[in-house]
Formats: sequence, C-alpha cells, structure tokens
Amino acid sequence: MQGVDALYGDSHVLHGISFEVGAGRVLALLGRNGAGKTTCMSAIIGFLPPRKGAIRLFGEPIAGLAPERIARKGVGFVPQGRRIFPTLTVRENLRVSERRSASSVWNLARVFELFPQLEERAEQVAGSLSGGEQQMLAIARALMGNPRVLLMDEPSEGLAPLIVAEVGRTIARLKDEGQSILLVEQNVRLALELADEVVILNTGRVAFTGSAGEARGNEALITQHLGVF
Ligand SMILES: Nc1ncnc2c1ncn2[C@@H]1O[C@H](COP(=O)(O)OP(=O)(O)OP(=O)(O)O)[C@@H](O)[C@H]1O
Ligand SMILES: [Mg+2]
Repeated sequence: MQGVDALYGDSHVLHGISFEVGAGRVLALLGRNGAGKTTCMSAIIGFLPPRKGAIRLFGEPIAGLAPERIARKGVGFVPQGRRIFPTLTVRENLRVSERRSASSVWNLARVFELFPQLEERAEQVAGSLSGGEQQMLAIARALMGNPRVLLMDEPSEGLAPLIVAEVGRTIARLKDEGQSILLVEQNVRLALELADEVVILNTGRVAFTGSAGEARGNEALITQHLGVF
C-alpha cells in the first residue's frame, strides 16, 4: 500500500501508510493496541476502503473494490479472534472457503497434511475445538482460498505458549512453501523470528520500516514503540 489514509467516519486513523509485502516474504506489522494494524488489514481486504492512497496486489490496483472481489483476486485473511463458523464441522468450514484456480496449491488433502489434528476432528463442530485448534482451522480456511498473499491478524492472541510455538512453526512452513504473508502480531519476539521485513506503526503512522534483523538489533526502537521486548 502506498500513502494510505483511512477514516472511521470523522475519526482519522491511518495517515499516509506505505509498505510492501514482497513475493514469498513475511512482513510483520507491529504496534501497540490501537496503533492501526487491524485497520490496515481492513483497508486491504476492502472492509474500509482508503480515503487516499493506493493498494496494489502484484501491481494491480484493488482499493475500492468490493471485499468479495478482493478475496477472489487472491487476498486471504485470518481475522483477529478467528471467526470460524462454530456450528459447522471442521470439514464444512474448510469446504465453504475452497477456491480453486489453475495455480492452486491448497486443497483439503494438503491442508489436512499440514494440520493432522484437523483431519482427526474433521466431523467435529468447530465450536467444540480448543483455542489452538480453532486458530489452526482459521489458517487452514484461509489457505483453502489459495491466496496469493495471506493476511493474519494476531494469530497467537490468547493462546498458551506451546500453541503459540506451533502457530509459529506453521507460519514458518508456509513461508518455506513460498507463501507471501502480512503478519500482525503483539508477540514481538515471535514476529521478529518469522519476519523478513518489519513495519512499526505508532498512532496511525509508520514509525519504522526495515529488515527484521535491523529491528531485532535495535532494542531502543522496540522499547519506544512496542513497550517491552
Ligand atoms: N469500527 C471502528 N470505529 C471507530 N474507530 C475505530 C473502529 N475500529 C477501530 N477504531 C479505532 O482506530 C484505531 C486503530 O484501531 P485498530 O483496531 O486498527 O488497532 P490495532 O493496532 O489493530 O490494535 P489491537 O492491537 O488492539 O488490535 C483505534 O484508535 C481504534 O479505537
Ligand atoms: Mg487489531
């Protein structure tokens, strides 16, 4: 995205935000509560069209298109708080999100290979899964849409440390498979481990753009904009 401004009514939340997720790269978008991370995602997926600026998907402008069209062009989204369909089974949750094209990589069999626990629970209603399993399902569901870029909003939120590590390993595997990922995280350590590039937001503005290595080595930066390391 380039020079993006976004507003909720009169409330001006994003100010001239620019960043780019490279093909096959992981960009971590960090910032304190209320910094504007979710709003950036809403702008990309078309829930909150930007007032100013451009959003491009591999060069093609997508700002202002309807959310379904943006999704069909290959933007996958794992929302904050998961939002799976609790009364549908695991299999049904995955089936409703299936989108195939000539370049499809993901299907039910491959998703079950990545998440064996989901296959074991395929016929169980999703609302009865543990928090960690629900997060895996939310990721699996987004993959079923065969996204060209995958947006994940705080996938580690509210999960026990062991499960957080598992989510981390999953993201690392997706990265190994060449998946482009925009990762929003409050877990700074996890994000810096996984990311290639880092963007830090502070009250709706970009405070830092650089490599993950650069951010890792700059404790003062992390402390200033994100609190504890
Ligand atoms: N629907 C809305 N209407 C009005 N203001 C909103 C709305 N959603 C978010 N905001 C405001 O926009 C700002 C950015 O919110 P946003 O949800 O993008 O933050 P965030 O970085 O995702 O925070 P968190 O880490 O808590 O999820 C906040 O000040 C928030 O109060
Ligand atoms: Mg948020």
